[in-house]
Amino acid sequence: MVSLTGADIAKHNSKESCWVIVHGKAYDVTEFLPEHPGGQKIILKYAGKDATKEFDPIHPSDTLDKYLPAEKHLGTVDMSSVPKEAVDETIDEAEVQRLDRVARMPPLSQCYNLLDFEDIARQTMRNTAWAYYSSGADDEITLRENHAAFHRIWFRPKVLVDVSSVDLTRTMLGSKSSVPFYITATALGKLGNPEGEVVLTRAGYRENVIQMIPTLASCSFDEIVDAKQGDQVQWLQLYVNMNRDITKKIVQHAEKRGCKALWITVDAPQLGRREKDMRSKYDEQAANVQDGDDSSVDRSQGAARAISSFIDPALSWKDIPWFQSITKMPIVLKGIQRGEDAVKAAEYGVDAILLSNHGGRQLDFARPAIEVLIEVMAALKARGLEKKIEVFIDGGVRRGTDILKALCLGAKGVGIGRPFLYAMSTYGESGVVRAMQLLKDELEMNMRLIGATNMDELDESFVEVGSLAQHSSTPVDHLSGQAYDKLVTPSFKSKL
Ligand code: LAC
Repeated sequence: MVSLTGADIAKHNSKESCWVIVHGKAYDVTEFLPEHPGGQKIILKYAGKDATKEFDPIHPSDTLDKYLPAEKHLGTVDMSSVPKEAVDETIDEAEVQRLDRVARMPPLSQCYNLLDFEDIARQTMRNTAWAYYSSGADDEITLRENHAAFHRIWFRPKVLVDVSSVDLTRTMLGSKSSVPFYITATALGKLGNPEGEVVLTRAGYRENVIQMIPTLASCSFDEIVDAKQGDQVQWLQLYVNMNRDITKKIVQHAEKRGCKALWITVDAPQLGRREKDMRSKYDEQAANVQDGDDSSVDRSQGAARAISSFIDPALSWKDIPWFQSITKMPIVLKGIQRGEDAVKAAEYGVDAILLSNHGGRQLDFARPAIEVLIEVMAALKARGLEKKIEVFIDGGVRRGTDILKALCLGAKGVGIGRPFLYAMSTYGESGVVRAMQLLKDELEMNMRLIGATNMDELDESFVEVGSLAQHSSTPVDHLSGQAYDKLVTPSFKSKL
């Protein structure tokens, strides 16, 4: 193939003819512009230039090979002829301070719990990455309630139980794991760590923790499966594409590559509005506007919307038998939020359900999964279905005690998302390993303290949930709090 120069590419810098460079190769994306899920404006920003930095965190490496016809692959570019973007080198004051904090990060041994990683991530991650990972829907009431709800469950420990040895292992969907938690699917791993999701795969192997592979990963599916070692277990999380042929291909490929379960996301016909994510994206682009008029700036909807336009909002119960016909993997519905739907799922013969509000990123004021769990177990028991289906929960889990509470209330296992992302974004693989070990230590110690020696012994008798559903205090609405102009009482005259 020909080697192109920076000047060749630079000529194609418009909507009429748009070429971009990604990893030293040129691509003609003119015809693809209207189809780009993230909108055309973001590509046009890099028209005639090197787009690698923007491309990398969002797209798996095989995206261009998969989706752009071969004739649009223009060949290699002599990168020494491509002018360096001035904008890449300007570092603003906030970035200088961030880099300083990165250089002064506490040693990993100083992280004693999952929230320590979160706090360090907040201070050291790039703003756009932090905003995407940490954001929740609307006023983020559900996001915060997910965590707070665990604080309304208290223990009823047993004493004088021989707890000299405690077994943390758990079999979930037929696969044995060292613990009753798993790495749940979260999108865009490369925003937090240049290697992306394979870091989680490696940590999962070291600690024998199951990994759920996300549809919207930054690494390609095959890269994540290739990173697996030995008999490590992986599951697939699926966003259902409007084009069912694509969906079928993805599912059957995953099964062939050894995935042990299919988790179909059912709580996201459209991705929620996450304003921190939207705002951070907006700010980044607005920063380049010199004249104060930002009407021409790409009002990007944030990373979440950019990657999700293929998701089928028409997905319904009618599709379930079709999924059952195309795969032998156990099927899990990810995102159930009421007892009636749990019963329906069992009646449809799915193997498991995940009670989840998508980490508070979808419907604000959706209830925490730990609360929904009580309703769901009661509904299943009332119909004798509780043994027919495995029930998982996720959202807000930060402590070993949170996991124990979920298991006491009937969960088979618990998904953990953001905490592992934060550990990965701060300390890489060793960070994730430490986060998992900390949870294991907490689990083991707290099992002893409540008087249980293995996961099967946990039941409702260990917990007091009387106030769980009392959303007692009014959640703080920070936006309105900040926008509100306080009433004041009359002021006294100043001294005469
Ligand atoms: C999210 C998706 C992609 O951002 O799961 O919540």
